[in-house]
Amino acid sequence: MLANKIRQQLGRPTQSLVGWLVKKFLTRNNRVLEENAVRLCGIQPDDTVLEVGFGPGLGLEAAASILSGPRGKLFGVDYSEFMYKVASERVKGLITSGKVTLHHSSVEAMPLPDSSVDKVFHCNCYYFWPDLTAGTAEIHRVMKPGGLMVVTLKVHTVAYVASKKLIPGEHWRPEAYMDALRATGFTDIRMEDKNDKDITFQAIFATASKSRMPGFPEYK
Ligand SMILES: C[S@@+](CC[C@H](N)C(=O)[O-])C[C@H]1O[C@@H](n2cnc3c(N)ncnc32)[C@H](O)[C@@H]1O
Repeated sequence: MLANKIRQQLGRPTQSLVGWLVKKFLTRNNRVLEENAVRLCGIQPDDTVLEVGFGPGLGLEAAASILSGPRGKLFGVDYSEFMYKVASERVKGLITSGKVTLHHSSVEAMPLPDSSVDKVFHCNCYYFWPDLTAGTAEIHRVMKPGGLMVVTLKVHTVAYVASKKLIPGEHWRPEAYMDALRATGFTDIRMEDKNDKDITFQAIFATASKSRMPGFPEYK
């Protein structure tokens, strides 16, 4: 019963006591993952960047600080209304200035144009998607050809949380996610061990290759 509640709130926090505790937990524990996902993306000042499942918004702040060029833009999507409110409050000045746009939407149907995003990052998010390939196909759709996606996670922690049934099914396994990336047009997919501030974590890298997609000349 409690496990069910925590599982639901980790995957989609609501404005409730447990949702509030989840928000506190994410804010306290995930800064290193969020900041490193941003760093590993190699964001340039004029890039268009997307964070999927931004939660409380720590990664949004980190990415926005690099997007200092006049064309630099940051988008975020999260299907939790509560997280949308919390993150909107965190970056409200950047929303007002037009640097950041947040959408209360799911990764499977993002209100973004085709081939418009240079870099995508997400942390602790894909384990909760109902359909991995629907999510990766949609991310691939919005990315420019050759765009880079970086996902950060702590595999050991996620495996432990999954063993306590706080994450649904087997989707959390990095292999499942990388298979979905391969099936939906990503290339150069790899996972590397990383360390920052004495914290070990993993980063998955993938490039949105579009040369074998319908509409591109090389497509057979
Ligand atoms: C465990 S939290 C992680 C939040 C933040 N990235 C972090 O690491 O602290 C997962 C976040 O992803 C969002 N999320 C999960 N599945 C999603 C989906 N299918 N579409 C959009 N957002 C999703 C949840 O609402 C939640 O804010």
